[in-house]
Amino acid sequence: MNELEKEAIKILQNNWRDGFSIPCEGLYPFQWKWDSGFIAIGLAYFNISKAKEEITTLLDAQWENGFIPHIIFHNESDSYFPGPNYHHSDLHPKASKKYKSTGMTQPPVTGFVLEELYRIGKDKKDILQYIETVIDKVYDNHHYFYKNRDILNEGLVYIYHNWESGTDNSPLWDDIFKTMNPPKYTFERRDTTHVDASQRPTKREYDHYLHIIEIAKKHRYNDQKIAELSPFLVQDPLFNSMLIKSNQSLIALYNLIGNNQEKVNQLKKWQEKSIHSFNKKLFSKKLGAYIHYDLRNKKHLEYISSSSFTPLFAGIPSKERASVLVKTLMQKFGKKNLYLCASFDPSNERYEPKKYWRGPVWINLNWILYKGLKQYSFENEAQRTKEDTITLVKKFGFYEYFDARKEKDKAGYGGHNFSWTAALIIGLLHEK
Ligand code: GLC
Repeated sequence: MNELEKEAIKILQNNWRDGFSIPCEGLYPFQWKWDSGFIAIGLAYFNISKAKEEITTLLDAQWENGFIPHIIFHNESDSYFPGPNYHHSDLHPKASKKYKSTGMTQPPVTGFVLEELYRIGKDKKDILQYIETVIDKVYDNHHYFYKNRDILNEGLVYIYHNWESGTDNSPLWDDIFKTMNPPKYTFERRDTTHVDASQRPTKREYDHYLHIIEIAKKHRYNDQKIAELSPFLVQDPLFNSMLIKSNQSLIALYNLIGNNQEKVNQLKKWQEKSIHSFNKKLFSKKLGAYIHYDLRNKKHLEYISSSSFTPLFAGIPSKERASVLVKTLMQKFGKKNLYLCASFDPSNERYEPKKYWRGPVWINLNWILYKGLKQYSFENEAQRTKEDTITLVKKFGFYEYFDARKEKDKAGYGGHNFSWTAALIIGLLHEK
């Protein structure tokens, strides 16, 4: 086995707790929703029972209404802010009685993760039997989204907080934050005791993040109230692509399991509507890329980010449109002096190459990009994405994010021994 893979396995072993994985020692001491999914993919290559356990634990924290929270606080830890006593998920009448969590979610990756486990697992019968025990929970989660978060009934769901996007402090949100004027809260951050403050969001940015949660808490995390009142309400192409990809995976898996025609029909209905609206509403001909729509302020956010290319993974664009998209990708993000794929448009003035989601390369987005390019047979671009990703990790280590500029001799930032970086490197090393 390749040395890099051995190292990756060791990281995942070290970050394993009792039934789930932490994203990163110190910095992120609990279970995160989309991290969990990517981690399960890595685990599946060397320990399928841990992969199953990771997902089982996540789904065990599902609320009665189908909602799955973004952080599950399995243990008491005062090394993280904002923790369980701040989020107070029990304000929601249908919240889990068993686990404390946040009252927001993260991109719905679990559906396609189940399909990945099926693809990777050697004992197909065993893994399908496992999937049969959990798949309805994922279906219920999709039902929750379409029922509560598709307020225009167009098959596109909203996120109400930048943390729900997974791309926490992307410059995409700057315009929205300008419309807000939150109080200056008093609180003690913990992230900056683990990571250099210049690589993390600012205090003022955190005031905005907390303010949105304050509004949601005031209304006991009620979806209708949030849709009505949250200053942040966005249709995110990344989030919706993950939902659409996961719909597709659920259809494939239900067909394998059999006897679930009604659910398959419902999923197909959602799918058709979602893909249609996605292409109609979220593609900018001017920019040659998919972009975000700000529902609160009724306007598009006209910026290209790594999220713009995730629809490839979900099979959303036509072949023709995919070519336009890949052209934009290579022109803006794929220059010779850059590693693929910066999280934000490197030619934009808001690009900050060292700062979290304002520019650095993230390995989960690269994995999604690689898979998307492959699906549309962009072999060279897929190969380049894979090689750039492996080079970054080999050269700098298993960091949380990386500088896209090739001339840098130190380019790994944020948390170290980061779980999804390890998990998806294992995944990429196994891709042909
Ligand atoms: C950061 C990332 C988010 C991730 C979390 C845990 O908040 O922005 O996407 O899920 O860390 O790794």
